[in-house]
Amino acid sequence: MSKLDELRKACLGCMACPLGAERTNLVFGVGNEESEVMFIGEGPGEQEDLKGEPFVGRAGKLLDDMLAIIDLDRTKIYIANTVKCRPPGNRDPLESEQDACWGWLERQIGLIDPKIIVCLGRIAAMRLIKPDFKITKEHGLWFSRDGRELTAIYHPAALLRDPRRRPEAFDDLKEIQRKIKALKLGS
Ligand code: URA
Repeated sequence: MSKLDELRKACLGCMACPLGAERTNLVFGVGNEESEVMFIGEGPGEQEDLKGEPFVGRAGKLLDDMLAIIDLDRTKIYIANTVKCRPPGNRDPLESEQDACWGWLERQIGLIDPKIIVCLGRIAAMRLIKPDFKITKEHGLWFSRDGRELTAIYHPAALLRDPRRRPEAFDDLKEIQRKIKALKLGS
């Protein structure tokens, strides 16, 4: 069993916040555990909770399309969320819930050890890049943290709600592709 599998197994019983009691399935993460590129979203929605996998609903379909634009897919990257259990009614995860879940994500990042982290939306960016991150102003910019390069792009659910932001997301994706090439990552 890999260290990541061991971590997943330990996480399965987590009741560190009230979301644990509400879940159908824990949504730990999927993808290539060896990847140097990790995408981190906000938290599971209804479909993800039912399936136990991140980004399998409408936003997930758009995420797949976004990845395809830059020749990526779920076999080439790893995808996780800021919280591993579904917030009720798909509300934003509370600060306290994110705090309770942080240790799992921190260890997950440590084990995957990506060179690039792409935050999907403001919640992940505020947690991983800086607390006052402004997604409308700072999407597509790069930040160095602990030897990793971090950026944030609009969350696919936000792009479904407001398609006018799609050209900006397209530019950000192309920038991520450039960075992957520049760092010569075998994503
Ligand atoms: N939105 C997220 O942020 N994560 C998911 O897994 C699904 C939708």
